[in-house]
Amino acid sequence: MDWGMENRLSQLIQADGRCFFLPIDHGYFQGPTSCLEKPGETIKPLLPYCDALFVTRGVLRAAVNPVGSKPIILRVSGGTSVLGGDLANESLTTSVEEILRLNAAAVGISIFVGSDYERESLMNLAEIVNRCEDFGIPVMAVTAVGKELEKRDARYLALASRIAAELGARVVKTYWCKDFDKVTCGCPVPVVMAGGPKCETEKEVMDFVYDGMQNGAVGLNLGRNVWQNPYPTAMMQALHGIIHGGLDAAEAWELFNDLKGKKTKKEGKAARKR
Ligand code: 5RP
Repeated sequence: MDWGMENRLSQLIQADGRCFFLPIDHGYFQGPTSCLEKPGETIKPLLPYCDALFVTRGVLRAAVNPVGSKPIILRVSGGTSVLGGDLANESLTTSVEEILRLNAAAVGISIFVGSDYERESLMNLAEIVNRCEDFGIPVMAVTAVGKELEKRDARYLALASRIAAELGARVVKTYWCKDFDKVTCGCPVPVVMAGGPKCETEKEVMDFVYDGMQNGAVGLNLGRNVWQNPYPTAMMQALHGIIHGGLDAAEAWELFNDLKGKKTKKEGKAARKR
């Protein structure tokens, strides 16, 4: 592997072989998502506990301090919205020059396997891999589950993840599911887990994260289950404990409960408002 590619990947996946990415890219198709209206404010207390930030160029420029920043995974697909015809109908949004200008450590792009736009989204992936590999920039493929593909089963996610890796993704982001080892075993590149909509309880989050890590995931790319929680910093710290600190689900949950008692004044005020 070339030095540049290896260096960038090592900024994402830490020396222990694990990673915790913080995604705040949701606005690119759903606008000012709840708790992400002011992304700069949302991430301020969370940044110390993440290894990289997943973000679009607009929010990066507007809301992320370039001085002392965490490594950036730049979202480079889009062009659709929740109001439009089909979320799967994405294109590439960002040039390689812009990716280099922003000093991204990696880029991220969605694929929609099984949708009407399967071919277009897979060709977007192939195209961005072709462009980014020339400059040693890793591509993370995001296996999106469209409206009509609500079933998050191992067979579907394994198929989508494997196809992403075959097309050249260096990292695959997919959803946790039962029998997650079937997804990771069939995917020759590191797999990170997304969370999806907020879970009912924090314990549920700890359980699926721990299970996924036991079954071959290298880490997390978790958004709503962190920053939509009334105690986002406590969530972040507890999950960090599973990813990098050797905690199991019960220990992480205990840590969360412990920390939420010591919430910051600002978090306490926001939690009371909800
Ligand atoms: C949204 C994304 C997110 O990065 C991904 O879904 C992770 O966030 P969450 O844990 O909230 O699902 O790609 O477009």
